[in-house]
Amino acid sequence: MYKINENYQKLPGSYLFSTIAKKVSAFAEANPQKEIIRLGIGDVTQPLAPAIIQAMHQAVDEMADAATFHGYAPDLGYEFLRTAIAEHDYKARGCDISADEIFVSDGAKSDSANIQEIFGQDNRIAVCDPVYPVYVDSNVMAGRTGTYNAETETWSNVIYMPCTMENGFVPEFPKEAPDIIYLCLPNNPTGTTITKQQLQEWVDYANKIGAVIIYDGAYEAYISEENVAHSIFECQGARTCAIELKSYSKNAGFTGVRLGYTVVPKDLKCQGASLNQMWARRHGTKFNGAPYIVQRAGEATYSPEGKAQLKEQVAYYMKNAAAIKNGLGAAGYTVFGGVNAPYIWLKTPGNMTSWEFFDYLLEQANVVGTPGSGFGPSGEGYFRLTAFGSYENTLAALERIRKL
Ligand code: MLT
Repeated sequence: MYKINENYQKLPGSYLFSTIAKKVSAFAEANPQKEIIRLGIGDVTQPLAPAIIQAMHQAVDEMADAATFHGYAPDLGYEFLRTAIAEHDYKARGCDISADEIFVSDGAKSDSANIQEIFGQDNRIAVCDPVYPVYVDSNVMAGRTGTYNAETETWSNVIYMPCTMENGFVPEFPKEAPDIIYLCLPNNPTGTTITKQQLQEWVDYANKIGAVIIYDGAYEAYISEENVAHSIFECQGARTCAIELKSYSKNAGFTGVRLGYTVVPKDLKCQGASLNQMWARRHGTKFNGAPYIVQRAGEATYSPEGKAQLKEQVAYYMKNAAAIKNGLGAAGYTVFGGVNAPYIWLKTPGNMTSWEFFDYLLEQANVVGTPGSGFGPSGEGYFRLTAFGSYENTLAALERIRKL
């Protein structure tokens, strides 16, 4: 008789964005005349930039000819893309990362869920609270998180680092030493970030206690302030304690195209074992490479035209962020984020819980956001709005919220 992975049974409810999608569908079905504005999941709305489309068309044409056809992609990524990443995302920023430390994938969500596989079962993870749910859920599935306390909404074997208004959303070093530290900066969901100096302190801390940092830099393109690091490898000593996850979803609109990469430096070693080699082994066994057409699209993000077009796209979304932040601020809401990230994090009004405000906003303004408590207990009383809508919809949603 077969047995299931019992750890799945421990997961409370469904994945946050699936729960929201179900609630919104039920509301839409019951209210077909209402025009819903979706500022919930961080999904992009602008079309792919012309330079990317052109590269994809060209790659499609290559696939139509036996002489230029591509079958399985190299499992770690095409050399042309790995070299472009090393050059533009690292060397240009003074970071010492080479192409063979870069692993191309189908996106940062899967990498952030899968990376825990190369670590032992008895590692203790530390996460910011609130946090992108994938980090915790994937460790639950692996059986690393202990038991769930429904009252406190916490796992017994997870170290939570609260990030709230009170500490300026900056995680503090935990009292108990963790083995694996997840950091997402600029942060999803709070839209806030830390300075390069503060990040350096995390790198020093990890090296000192022998921990590894899983650094999710999916929102790096939205950094507007000078003293914020674009990569953890800008910090001294990161090569011996950090893995970096990057995505093309938010900087280039690839949420539906699917492309990302993970950097595992060769200096990252645990009792003589190379994590770079382990991740290469895992990738080779479980992944058959991102599609050629998609990797050519990724390469196009680094061309001069691609870069200029994407800069404009990021500016478009950040104009939305500023509109939400300023508009809600003027309407009396307490708002955070939106300066180095496309997310606005607000205090729910009138002591409403996050889910109460979600329902209120959906029913009264027909606007969808994301309840802060869905990201962890310290997210209770907060609410997230994304800047990834169209400008028109963003202004319309703001107008409706202001009128409440
Ligand atoms: C979010 O809304 O938090 C993100 O879009 C989810 C994701 O990137 O997987």
